[in-house]
Amino acid sequence: MTTSVPVALGDRSYDIHIGAGVLNECGERIAATVRTMPAKLPVVTDENVSRLHYAALAESLGAAGFNPEPIVLPPGEHTKSFAYLEQLLNKLLDLEIERSGLIVAFGGGVIGDLAGFAAGILKRGVAFAQIPTTLLAQVDSSVGGKTAIDSRQGKNLIGVFHQPRIVIADTDVLSTLPKRELLSGYAEVAKYGLLGDAAFFDWLERNASDALAGDKSALTHAVAHSCKMKADIVARDERENGERALLNLGHTFGHALEAHLEYENLLTHGEAVALGCVLAFRLSSMLGFCRVEEALRVERHFANMGFMTALADLGEARPAPADLIRHIRQDKKNQGGQMTFVLVEKIGKAFVTADVPEEAVIRLLSEE
Ligand SMILES: NC(=O)c1ccc[n+]([C@@H]2O[C@H](COP(=O)([O-])OP(=O)(O)OC[C@H]3O[C@@H](n4cnc5c(N)ncnc54)[C@H](O)[C@@H]3O)[C@@H](O)[C@H]2O)c1
Ligand SMILES: [Zn+2]
Repeated sequence: MTTSVPVALGDRSYDIHIGAGVLNECGERIAATVRTMPAKLPVVTDENVSRLHYAALAESLGAAGFNPEPIVLPPGEHTKSFAYLEQLLNKLLDLEIERSGLIVAFGGGVIGDLAGFAAGILKRGVAFAQIPTTLLAQVDSSVGGKTAIDSRQGKNLIGVFHQPRIVIADTDVLSTLPKRELLSGYAEVAKYGLLGDAAFFDWLERNASDALAGDKSALTHAVAHSCKMKADIVARDERENGERALLNLGHTFGHALEAHLEYENLLTHGEAVALGCVLAFRLSSMLGFCRVEEALRVERHFANMGFMTALADLGEARPAPADLIRHIRQDKKNQGGQMTFVLVEKIGKAFVTADVPEEAVIRLLSEE
C-alpha cells in the first residue's frame, strides 16, 4: 500500500509517495509529473546504492519510456563538495540536459543535497525528483527543499532552497541499510514526536523496535507520519523564519558534539541528535519548563532503542563543557553570538528560546 503525503507550497507543491515496493512505480509516477519525455534522464546516485538498487529503478524508468543515464559518485559526506559539484554539473551539461528536463537524486542525504543543489543552479533551476534510500533521507533531507554542499568552513554553508517535483520513498530499500545507519535515521523520527506530537511518540514507544526490525507496516507508518509532520511545518514556514526552527530539536547539542568530535566515527549524526534531544529535555527540566519525568521517559526510550543517552557514555572522548559551548555559540542559527535552543514544555511541545543562562548549560554539561 502506498501512502501519499502532499507538501502544500502553492505552485511548488508536490507529493511524497511512501510504501514498500514503491520503487517499482517510480517510472510511471515520475512520468506523471513531466509534460514531455526528456531525451535522457540523469540518475545521480552513489556506488553503494547503485550496486544494490539501480537495476530495479532503471527497469521501472525504462518501462515508463525514460532513458536513464546513471551518474555514480563515491559514497560519503566528502562528496558534498565543490569538487564533486563541478564534476556533476559538467556531466549534466555534457548530457545536454534541457532547462525543461529533470534530474533524479537516488541515494541518501548526501546525494539528495548535492544533486538537488546542482539542479537548483543548473540553467538557473531544473526540476528534480528525490528517491531517498536511507531512513534519514526518507524522513528528513528529501522533504522541504533545502539543498547544499559543505566547504572547509563548515557543513551546508553553500546551498539554495529548491523544492523537488516529487519524492518517492520505498521503505523496502531500507532493508539493505547498515543497522547503524537505520538507527541513526530513527533519531529524526523520534524527534518529530518529541517536538510536536505526543501521540506519535506514544506509538513509537510501542512500535519503533518492530518497525526497525522489519515490520513493514509499522515502518511505513513511521516514515509517512514523519514526512507528514515535516511537510506541514515546511508548508507553514518554508524559509525557516519561525516554526521550521523547531526541527532543530536536539541539533544544537548534536551539532556541537559532532563538531567537537570532528565527525569521527564515534557518533553518527542521528546518535548525536538522540543525545542532543535527551540534553534538551534535561535542560528544560532543569530550568523548570518541563517535568523531570518527561526527560526520564525520553532518555529511557532512546536507551531502549540502543542509543547513548549521557555524555559520560563517551568516556575519554567526552568534551569539556566550555568546548561544547564554544561550538554552540558558532551555530549558524544564532544571531549576534547568542546561544539559541529548542526546549520543551513536555513531550510533543517544543519552543525556541535564546533566554538560557550559560551557567545552566555548564551545569547540564558537567552532570555525571
Ligand atoms: N537537506 C536537508 O534538509 C537535510 C536534512 C538532514 C540531513 N541532511 C544531510 O544529509 C546527509 C546525511 O544523509 P544520510 O544519513 O542519508 O547519509 P549518506 O547519504 O551518506 O548515506 C549513508 C550511507 O548509506 C549508504 N546507503 C544509502 N542508501 C542505502 C541503502 N538503501 N542500502 C545500503 N546502503 C545505503 C550510502 O552509500 C552511505 O554510505 C548529510 O550531509 C546532511 O547534511 C540534509
Ligand atoms: Zn538531523
